[in-house]
Amino acid sequence: MLTKQKFLSSWHAFELKRIADRRGSLTFIENDSHLPFAIQRVYYLYDVPSGESRGAHAHRLLQQVIVAASGSFDVTLSDGRRSETFNINRPDVGLYIPRMIWRDIQNFSGGAVCLVLASARYDENDYIRHYGEFLNLIRRAS
Ligand code: TYD
Repeated sequence: MLTKQKFLSSWHAFELKRIADRRGSLTFIENDSHLPFAIQRVYYLYDVPSGESRGAHAHRLLQQVIVAASGSFDVTLSDGRRSETFNINRPDVGLYIPRMIWRDIQNFSGGAVCLVLASARYDENDYIRHYGEFLNLIRRAS
């Protein structure tokens, strides 16, 4: 389990508990024990056509955890200096994304479900949808 400090400072994939028996598997996510934020919204991407990509934005304040509830996809994260691609392919792994991180989500498998837990309700004003603007904001903050 990651410390709250590490959660807050950097993106990270982390393991969730899997309770498996002959009837199948169960994974749970709870505020406080697994997340550095209280869940205010849950949404999910599905029926993504082969070759399509999602994301291509950053958030000013929003924090998120992404889980592949089914199937797999690639999440590429960038802080404007460094980028890393995660193949998210297990329902018992979460990917924490802090604020001000550019994300692209690609290579969805058939039947993939990208489950997103978010720290706030939907607010279009929280989005940064142009990479140039994202880089400018990062440079100004550093
Ligand atoms: P967007 O966040 O751009 O999708 P993605 O990053 O997955 O490619 O959202 C697509 C549309 O859905 C956009 O018109 C905003 C709307 N939307 C909501 O109304 N509520 C939400 O919680 C989200 C995430 C999006």
